[in-house]
Amino acid sequence: MSLEPRRTPAIVGGPRAKTTPYGRSVRYGEEELTQLREAIDQQTLFYTAGAKVKALEARFAELNGVAHAVATSSGTASIHAALMALGISPGDEVIVSPITDMGSVIPILFQGAAPVFADLDGATATLDPASVRERITDRTRAVLAVHLAGGACDLAALGAICDERGIDLVEDCAQAFGCAWQGRPIGTVGRIGCFSMNEFKHISCGDGGIVVTNDDELAVRLRLATDKAYDRRPGVAMRNPTFLAANYRITELQAAVALAQLEKLEGIVARRRAWCGALNRMLVGTPGIRLPAAVPGCDPSWWFYLMQVVPEELGADADEFAAALSAEGVGVGAHYIGLPVYGYPVFTEHCAYQRGAHAYQARSYGPGLCPEAERILRDCVMLGVNEGYTETDLLETAEGIRKVADWLANGRA
Ligand SMILES: Cc1ncc(COP(=O)(O)O)c(C=O)c1O
Repeated sequence: MSLEPRRTPAIVGGPRAKTTPYGRSVRYGEEELTQLREAIDQQTLFYTAGAKVKALEARFAELNGVAHAVATSSGTASIHAALMALGISPGDEVIVSPITDMGSVIPILFQGAAPVFADLDGATATLDPASVRERITDRTRAVLAVHLAGGACDLAALGAICDERGIDLVEDCAQAFGCAWQGRPIGTVGRIGCFSMNEFKHISCGDGGIVVTNDDELAVRLRLATDKAYDRRPGVAMRNPTFLAANYRITELQAAVALAQLEKLEGIVARRRAWCGALNRMLVGTPGIRLPAAVPGCDPSWWFYLMQVVPEELGADADEFAAALSAEGVGVGAHYIGLPVYGYPVFTEHCAYQRGAHAYQARSYGPGLCPEAERILRDCVMLGVNEGYTETDLLETAEGIRKVADWLANGRA
């Protein structure tokens, strides 16, 4: 039986579902230029002397209802500052997700600590609390909860485990600006929340980051961690470092852009939510694929849209599904980051440093460490999301996904 022409997949000669280019938002404009001009007019680009970094931190803290925000030079710097502030030290262990950016694990290694990868929940692709619990040892000092693709980890369970074991919960919110968990802004549940403002995130200042905490003492240490442990508060000795810190300062220029971007965040997240929410509704019942899932109480902010194929039901793997969608003009890629982070040579070959001992050398990293994470990467297909996507993009994308999935699941007939 042959398909009606409109339903014939493009990969076998049918018409493409996506006939128009995807919409894109204008990322930077007059608001950023105004802020930048003001920053230049200050005749200083240094954070203690200018007004932009201070204003960014105050506004971010206000928007998130937290006591303190400290701006940094990147998301990686934010996480590193958090670990320095918490005193993570050589020989410690930090539990982290295997599906993330290197920026989550670089800071652990730099602190001389060993990253311990816990497995993931198959539906949400975030840390599985049971696996975290199982991988805690007497050397574990922190859990770094990576909120993937704009969706939260199970913060209730992770928080309870951390409280019970007396370890710190740090939130990696690089992909989750604007996500809410049980009505609370992401990043405000753990002891420290870390954000990235690199070029690809919900909001950007080229490169930058910001950390939040409600803990007054930690806030002081976070600032020191970003500024060589120089204490620039009035009335104290500045050049008196009490721990090893880095220079992760943000400049007035980046902060100026970030200030303008921050005012756009609510709208960006609202548009992404509306688009992805509608896509979810249109795809309910599509055979052979699992739609993105969120933990209870989470309102995701949709950095991207992660589907998973069920090969036995779809009759195809992620590569075949992605190839057929690409032929339709639907903007997807299979396998997200490809390998779990522990599959990279820096882990499998322990080549972080050229010489000397490091705590992570005592652990072996490689295939099999987190089976569910490996399955997710094998089966996942990632659809890029932009707040500029239109109603037409929605209809054409949904049509392409449904058409391809129906065709594959029906034996390509
Ligand atoms: C989950 C996660 N953590 C950390 C980072 C690091 O952020 P940055 O690139 O700003 O250092 C990223 C960046 O892609 C990320 O996605």
